[in-house]
Amino acid sequence: MLPPVARPEVLALRASRIREVANAAWGREGVLTFWFGESDRATPAFIRERAAQALSEGRTFYTHNLGTAELRAALSAYLSGLHGRPIGERRIAVTNSGVSALMIAAQAVVSPGDRVVAVTPVWPNVVEIPRILSAQVEGVALEAAQDSWRLDVGRLLAALTPGTRALFLNSPNNPTGWTLPADDRAAILEHCRKHGIWLVADDVYERIAFGPGRSAPSFLALAEDGDRVIGANSFSKAWRMTGWRLGWLVLPPALLESVGVLLEYNTSCAPDFVQAAAAAALAQGEAHVSELRAELAAARDQVLAGLRAMPGAEAPEPDGGMYAFFRVAGCSDSVALARRLIDEASLGLAPGAAFGPEGEGWLRWCFANRPEKNALGLQRLGRFLTTSTARPRAGGDPN
Ligand SMILES: Cc1ncc(COP(=O)(O)O)c(C=O)c1O
Repeated sequence: MLPPVARPEVLALRASRIREVANAAWGREGVLTFWFGESDRATPAFIRERAAQALSEGRTFYTHNLGTAELRAALSAYLSGLHGRPIGERRIAVTNSGVSALMIAAQAVVSPGDRVVAVTPVWPNVVEIPRILSAQVEGVALEAAQDSWRLDVGRLLAALTPGTRALFLNSPNNPTGWTLPADDRAAILEHCRKHGIWLVADDVYERIAFGPGRSAPSFLALAEDGDRVIGANSFSKAWRMTGWRLGWLVLPPALLESVGVLLEYNTSCAPDFVQAAAAAALAQGEAHVSELRAELAAARDQVLAGLRAMPGAEAPEPDGGMYAFFRVAGCSDSVALARRLIDEASLGLAPGAAFGPEGEGWLRWCFANRPEKNALGLQRLGRFLTTSTARPRAGGDPN
């Protein structure tokens, strides 16, 4: 008899290499960690208070599969204002997190054997989710210039061959901070239109953009109701609500009913009191989002300046998001280096290999922290790199 194991596609999934490194350090005293993508501060008080109030009002029941009317109306108003065109409630579904939004989107449009293209390096879930559904995923790699990351749009369009089912594109990108320039959107959308390719935009960091405007350039500002464009989003980052597990999808209206059915069979609905708090986040949260953006811009400047001053370090500038993706001369095994940083510098960074083969040799630093914490981390890294015996060895790291 066959052993009781999961199906081959599940066995083939890459386990998280961030977790691999973090688990090795779990429970160790004194390790300063920058490996997970979240702020070191709790959700703003006005959002927590609204959830507490909704709980005491007894909002503890199931809701509509697509979300409460209150939250969908709030999302419609918020998104229409943000993207400068009407985005009606018939295009909005509430999900139980950003990652669940991506999974539902993939379940809606990706079939076994489909070819999916993703811009990489990228947060592993973006490529592993289509693989769970037995799709073939191909990466188109961003290129690191000295000061910034860039996407060769011609190369992306060439990879989006007729018959490709979907493009998954995350901008601002985790881990690099690369942000799709506004001028590149039209060519990508036109190409997807021409070949009937679904465009799944992971917009989770759209409010954490350091360029002009209230948001990073979005396909939602260009998409018509009939376009095969899906926006996946989350309350986690812009409102510091990672532990609440709430997100949303923007869809063509023709897809909404199917997504409601998929939601029923995945999670049925998001918690009512969490949705009440999220509606408050949208209605009263703009001052908080502006403040967060300013704090993160300052944190980015602090960490980039610190990294760039270190011997052999290369740190392109992130245009958005909450991460510095950098490399140190001589490092070709990022997992080994991340492990050495735990042991020898009490410093927790995410290995670049976690974000695909294109990320090998790089490290990711989440800078969404108070300045004192970032400063202490930089001090530890600096000390490690200037101690000659501790520096990564050329040609790989045997440890
Ligand atoms: C690129 C990207 N997409 C989606 C998510 C999902 O966010 P959540 O599931 O917390 O809503 C994350 C979280 O780190 C992310 O980095």
